[in-house]
Amino acid sequence: MVKKIKVKNSGIIKLQFYNDFPDGNLVIGESNKSVPFKIKRFYFINNLFSPKAIRGKHAHKKLEQIIFCINGQFTLNLDDGESKQGILMNDPYYGVRLGPKLWHTMTKFSSDCVILVLADDYFEEDDYIRGYKQFLEYVR
Ligand code: TYD
Repeated sequence: MVKKIKVKNSGIIKLQFYNDFPDGNLVIGESNKSVPFKIKRFYFINNLFSPKAIRGKHAHKKLEQIIFCINGQFTLNLDDGESKQGILMNDPYYGVRLGPKLWHTMTKFSSDCVILVLADDYFEEDDYIRGYKQFLEYVR
């Protein structure tokens, strides 16, 4: 897991957890506390059996999200239109902020990877920027 995010509109969110060894870990996130918005939606992605799978390839105009890798690992590629950064997501206690105007792709999934995303709004296709050229025009 990366220690410093250099792209715009991102950041690291650390979750509180209780190590109840040998009875497991309990990990907690709360709206407007560790999660810096009110959660209106969540989704998770599993069954990532193809190492060639690519997800994301879009940016959002307004949506705020936090992405976690709660099992396994993958690479999160962020691009704010000026800087790019690849982040190895392999620590379930750290999330990465996917703020607006941040082109993101997810690659190199382990087969046991499970991704959890928290969002501050409902699904709205109009909020997506799905073309990279269109993204660059939008942020510049
Ligand atoms: P998409 O956001 O493109 O997935 P990813 O970024 O992980 O590759 O969503 C894939 C499809 O699922 C797309 O047709 C829209 C739909 N979808 C919903 O209907 N609701 C949702 O909350 C999300 C995230 C996606």
